Amino acid sequence: MAPRPRQPGDTPAPRGNRPKFVPNTPKGTTFRKPALELFTSTLWEYPSQHYMPDHAGAGGRPTVQGDPNYPGATPSWVIWQLIQRYTKPGERVLDPMCGSGTTLDVCADLAREAKGFDINPTRPDIEPADARKLPLPDACCDLVFVDPPYSTHINYSDQPGCIGKLDAGGRDGGRAYYQAMGAVIAEIDRVLRPGRHAGLYVSDSRREAGEGRTEFMPIGFELFSLLRERFEPVDIVAVVRRNTKLHERGRISRARETNALDRGFNYLFIMRKPPRRAR
Ligand SMILES: C[S@@+](CC[C@H](N)C(=O)[O-])C[C@H]1O[C@@H](n2cnc3c(N)ncnc32)[C@H](O)[C@@H]1O
Repeated sequence: MAPRPRQPGDTPAPRGNRPKFVPNTPKGTTFRKPALELFTSTLWEYPSQHYMPDHAGAGGRPTVQGDPNYPGATPSWVIWQLIQRYTKPGERVLDPMCGSGTTLDVCADLAREAKGFDINPTRPDIEPADARKLPLPDACCDLVFVDPPYSTHINYSDQPGCIGKLDAGGRDGGRAYYQAMGAVIAEIDRVLRPGRHAGLYVSDSRREAGEGRTEFMPIGFELFSLLRERFEPVDIVAVVRRNTKLHERGRISRARETNALDRGFNYLFIMRKPPRRAR
């Protein structure tokens, strides 16, 4: 079902942090992406998966970051915000689960040095590696961004070691998934410089539990407590998802009938490695 167009008398959209959202671009007109600026609250929203770089198209530069068709690609403006806030030009940004390379393209736009790894690399500038064992020395990165699999919701690849094959729910409460993610977080801690930041982008999920039932998996809070074992919390941001799937008729009726709500936001956990680890 298409979203209902705004009507006179609707509550106005909050101003300030939110770029202008243009839900219904009239036919024959071109949708113009708003300029991307630093957000100032913990609610992040932008009306597109990708921002338009100032020099888009110049010298053959792409107008998108990463691959919009990659399942589970991160909105590039989330990474842009983190890089702008927590690094300077020339500093090194790591994405240990780089997927379609969104982080690498944002780094190129912002003149940061990028390191990208994935268990199943999709392009030559992404190196093959397991995020639990990175071929990097200790304390060599100025910022780490990671958007991991959220349980088994997407079939990324059949590579041995793909954490997207591990269920975050079920009888054992997703022990293998959280053990694997604990090892990823430990590796992020190892390669990050003291005093620098890490961002983990994730959503909760639901799994089929038989007989038409689904079970809620609070992946966000579970990963946040793993992060807290090693890092200081800096902020928790709610990133609004404008996923067109949320408007599919079947999803809407299922949510109405079963109270199994669709995910309307992702968490972005912003953490800092303590400047000097207390022993
Ligand atoms: C949510 S996607 C990342 C999307 C990416 N940020 C982008 O914008 O395209 C999660 C990625 O984790 C990768 N992955 C799964 N297990 C991994 C592991 N053990 N080590 C490294 N990467 C892994 C998957 O191959 C997938 O590309």
